[in-house]
Amino acid sequence: MNITVIGTGYVGLVTGTCFSEFGGQVTCVDKIEDKIESLKRGEIPIYEPGLDDLVARNIRSGRLNFSTDINDAIDQALVLLIAVGTPPSDDGSTNLAYVEAVAREIGQRLDSYKVIVTKSTVPVGTSVKVRNWIQEELDKRGEKARFSVASNPEFLREGAAVGDFMRPDRVVIGTDAGDDQALAILKDLYRPLFLNETPFVETNIPTAELSKYAANAFLATKISFINEVSVLCEEVGGDVQAVARVMGLDRRIGKKFLHAGPGFGGSCFPKDTLSAARFAREVGHEFSIVEASIAVNERQRVRMIDKIVASVEGDVTGKTVAILGLAFKPETDDIREAPALDIIRGLLDRGARIRAYDPAAMAEAGRLIPEIELCKDAYEACADADVLVIVTEWNEFRMLDLERVKELLVEPRMVDLRNVYKAEKMKDEGFLYWGVGR
Ligand SMILES: NC(=O)c1ccc[n+]([C@@H]2O[C@H](COP(=O)([O-])OP(=O)(O)OC[C@H]3O[C@@H](n4cnc5c(N)ncnc54)[C@H](O)[C@@H]3O)[C@@H](O)[C@H]2O)c1
Repeated sequence: MNITVIGTGYVGLVTGTCFSEFGGQVTCVDKIEDKIESLKRGEIPIYEPGLDDLVARNIRSGRLNFSTDINDAIDQALVLLIAVGTPPSDDGSTNLAYVEAVAREIGQRLDSYKVIVTKSTVPVGTSVKVRNWIQEELDKRGEKARFSVASNPEFLREGAAVGDFMRPDRVVIGTDAGDDQALAILKDLYRPLFLNETPFVETNIPTAELSKYAANAFLATKISFINEVSVLCEEVGGDVQAVARVMGLDRRIGKKFLHAGPGFGGSCFPKDTLSAARFAREVGHEFSIVEASIAVNERQRVRMIDKIVASVEGDVTGKTVAILGLAFKPETDDIREAPALDIIRGLLDRGARIRAYDPAAMAEAGRLIPEIELCKDAYEACADADVLVIVTEWNEFRMLDLERVKELLVEPRMVDLRNVYKAEKMKDEGFLYWGVGR
């Protein structure tokens, strides 16, 4: 099957590459020429474990191509997947400008039947808009080509994206009632996973669109929930990790996403929770739980800054803070809405100096906040710092040479926002230590 993926970012690149690995003939399109040129050379613009090998292999096999020519890519394919960004606008609503631009480009070119699939995360009702934008462009040309629209939200996690795409928990396909042709084509597209016994949810388009927000909002709520519990633990002398274990061992609750910390970040949860709350209000409903999760998350960021300031006797002016981890989570270079950025900005505002290290995300973070002194490793970041703060739990921060860290710091202080270390052990090692909710 000929497949075109429009938007070659974290989702589009992984999606296109994996479909080519399944045997599809794939063209990944992006409007950024440099990105496409480097991909043609097999250079991956993002950090995503396992993706480079897969891209190289499928370029060699001739099944994976990269292009800036959307028209040619539209002509070639039966299925067009829209995977462009859907960033938040200032008012929390979803900016659909990129989706609209692509839909219109499709409408300006389409001359035979195709299935246009929205893979980007979009508010309920967007597929109707996509259909209208395409139809408007067809009408302008007097073109009568038929097309289907469908919703196929993506659930992959950055850092584990290839595995998630190849072995998803489920595939969601939303089509119009009675559109058997589109449904059959999309089931054929995903046939390798169907054969794998991956659960498929075939449903209508609003349900598919809403399911992505419901899933993300629920996960974000789990994080905010345990963060609230961590506050209570600090008040009453409890241990949030033990509470989370008790909760998580209940199979109805499950262990995942019950780690207290600096709150959720990344390119999905913050914008998707905001968007869900926003479009709920547009249909006259207050999505109270999600609005509370957002508020708790914002408060948690401030609590983390306060915790760091408190660790240096309540005044961080002129102090040096060593930050380990800038990416919003380990195994990615993505710093969109990363907790580290808010924390660093908060500390800079209060007069601190920041030395930081991250295994993958330094270039982008340095561009965004030039005041950060970027260091070559964790130890360089610690040199002459007043306090060490672990913000992102990369594996390499889990077994630091504590003796060396102690010598490098002005005083042995560690604020561990991911509860990587044991409080007792840190005390034995001679550190002043603060975790979250313990
Ligand atoms: N990143 C994730 O983990 C993740 C997971 C699930 C769903 N999503 C959703 O998937 C969508 C894409 O997210 P992402 O993180 O891959 O975004 P991204 O910003 O990494 O990539 C989007 C790409 O689209 C390109 N683009 C924009 N307009 C274009 C156009 N007119 N023609 C061609 N290319 C164009 C951009 O240049 C960019 O390379 C979003 O809706 C997001 O919410 C993301």
